[in-house]
Amino acid sequence: MLRRPRRNRKSESIRSAVRETHLSPTNLVSPLFLLPGENKSEVIKSLPVASRMTLDFMLKEMEASIEVGIDKFMIFPAIPEEHKDKVATYSYAEDNFYLRAAELIKKEIPEAVLISDVAMDPYSTDGHDGLVIGKEIVNDQTLPILDRMAVAQAQAGFDIIGPSDMMDGRIESIRTAMDEAGYYNTSIMSYCAKYASGFYGPFRDALDSAPGFGDKKTYQMDPANKNEALIEAELDTQEGADFLMVKPALNYLDVIHMLNSEFDLPIAAYHVSGECAMLLAACEKGWLDYDVVMPETLLSIKRAGADVIMTYLAKSFGEFYHR
Ligand code: PBG
Repeated sequence: MLRRPRRNRKSESIRSAVRETHLSPTNLVSPLFLLPGENKSEVIKSLPVASRMTLDFMLKEMEASIEVGIDKFMIFPAIPEEHKDKVATYSYAEDNFYLRAAELIKKEIPEAVLISDVAMDPYSTDGHDGLVIGKEIVNDQTLPILDRMAVAQAQAGFDIIGPSDMMDGRIESIRTAMDEAGYYNTSIMSYCAKYASGFYGPFRDALDSAPGFGDKKTYQMDPANKNEALIEAELDTQEGADFLMVKPALNYLDVIHMLNSEFDLPIAAYHVSGECAMLLAACEKGWLDYDVVMPETLLSIKRAGADVIMTYLAKSFGEFYHR
């Protein structure tokens, strides 16, 4: 036998010399759920690694994460019912606790990189990502609302704006609005290929943001489609996105791989709440070994071609990495 691939696997030292993919905490983003008020932290039952917490707890969580090399955070607000309306007015209100929290975090922990969420669903009585007229989620009338939301977030100090709404034309619309307001240095991470997935369940529990009627299939992508992701990526690139995101990650590794091969922009992938919950549940039952499958799972997303990975396991990976 002339070729014996096993020779390159014979010791950890050789294996690590020929290792093709490396995952480090710098690739990871930790998603966090913000509650108004203070001194509250509630574990999410369907996603027990994550909690909904008030700003005081969030600052501590961020400091602990930074200690293990996780310095990028994606923040989602849990908006009380009384602040919701048809047109998401509260999303850019002066007294919005989410915006004021971002401002304070950037003052207290300037090295933290903050990524926002732009979509109407947390603020809307309809629970949809766009404006609802009759039974339709209307595209073009949603754009000016998203623009105001994005500019308010840029003004509050978010480093990267994350439009997750899947309306057509929103990247160009937000880019133009932010540039006109002087926020030309604020980046856009587009939720570019976001699928109408069943794996967002625990997230919707955390924010109580399930759609009031119907589903999100007229704006989020059909899980069967791949070429359509090329169309979305082409448009978002032309419209000025800085990152292209694929979401969910694990069931869509082929899409991550394809966008990484076809486009020059950095690729982000969102290891979503339901994907994480499955892993945690199996480990809790003792069916899988967390210390083995957790890094293996995140590595597979990097190997597929993602540079940036949003995952509820970010801090846990950081702790594991420094062990
Ligand atoms: C809302 C939004 C969702 C997620 C991120 N932003 C839910 C949805 O589209 O219904 C899901 C993230 C996760 O499941 O971890 N626009």
